[in-house]
Amino acid sequence: MAGSQLPAKVLGLLLEGSGHRSGQEMAGLLGCTRAAVAKTVGGLRAQGFEIEAAPRRGYCLVSEPHLVLPARVEARLGPDSLGRPLYHFDQLDSTNLEARRRAETGAPHGACLVAEHQSAGRGRLERRWLAPPQTCLLFSLILRPRLSLGRVFGLNNLISLALCRALEEHCGLQPAIKWPNDVYLEGKKLAGILTEFTSRAETVDHVVVGVGLNVNVEQSHLADLDQAANSLKAASGHSWDRAPLLAHILEEATLLYDQFIAGLHQELRTEYERRSLLLGLKVTVREGEQVREGLARGFAPDGALLLEDKSGDIITIHHGDVSLLAWEK
Ligand code: BTN
Repeated sequence: MAGSQLPAKVLGLLLEGSGHRSGQEMAGLLGCTRAAVAKTVGGLRAQGFEIEAAPRRGYCLVSEPHLVLPARVEARLGPDSLGRPLYHFDQLDSTNLEARRRAETGAPHGACLVAEHQSAGRGRLERRWLAPPQTCLLFSLILRPRLSLGRVFGLNNLISLALCRALEEHCGLQPAIKWPNDVYLEGKKLAGILTEFTSRAETVDHVVVGVGLNVNVEQSHLADLDQAANSLKAASGHSWDRAPLLAHILEEATLLYDQFIAGLHQELRTEYERRSLLLGLKVTVREGEQVREGLARGFAPDGALLLEDKSGDIITIHHGDVSLLAWEK
């Protein structure tokens, strides 16, 4: 086994049981020596894990650090999940920029970059994405699908679905998708997605899907933002451990990505429509200088918004900023 996988594997075993686990037993299960287990436990302790060692009984996990450390996420991921390898940074300019740099030098499909803080976080339409350090999930996934350019947009939609599923199952919340790339909770923005890609000829070389999810952002900070924003903490009244949540999102993204690549687009579109905040509502869509009003009727196979205008014609919209006329500022 590659040495770098051991921390996640040892942590996985410690998370499984409620009591102690002997170094001998873990070494047997992992196909390594007791000394390698002891060294790995030492490495985990140095990262802030509290692991008790009792004579003859072995090791017991007492507490984990709150950071989104690779071992913490990988210990909770299935073997074929997206999110491997996972790189963790205390600070970056932007996970999307770093993911692009790494993708250009050969980072594999499924790699994930997570930052505790970004100094130049990027949103859509050249906007900035601001988040207080160590409060949010800020990550970018590198995907290398064999796709024509027209299909890339579907990946954006797929990640919004993964976020909704994970938030529903993991946190018991009911988020909704605001096309094209926002996840809303109680009428306020909870997460944004920035999908960027590099192509060669007419096919995609790699796609970077960046996600900013407000997890433990305080209400007082949300109130300072330009746009009405929400966080899991503000909505639920308590903090959330970000690493298990990221693992859940990556697991859902893996299931959805496999469906997408298998061509199950209709199933995905049905779920996307069910989770859409806009469907059947009157909206305004701004694209540069152009402003359109109409009823959101559905989504095209490539992920575009289908808008019914006043004369009953259906317009297909690929880009734009949507406002809901009913309640959004
Ligand atoms: C938007 O709603 O405008 C999209 C926001 C996307 C923000 C995330 S944070 C992690 C990743 N890195 C970035 O620089 N941006 C995305």
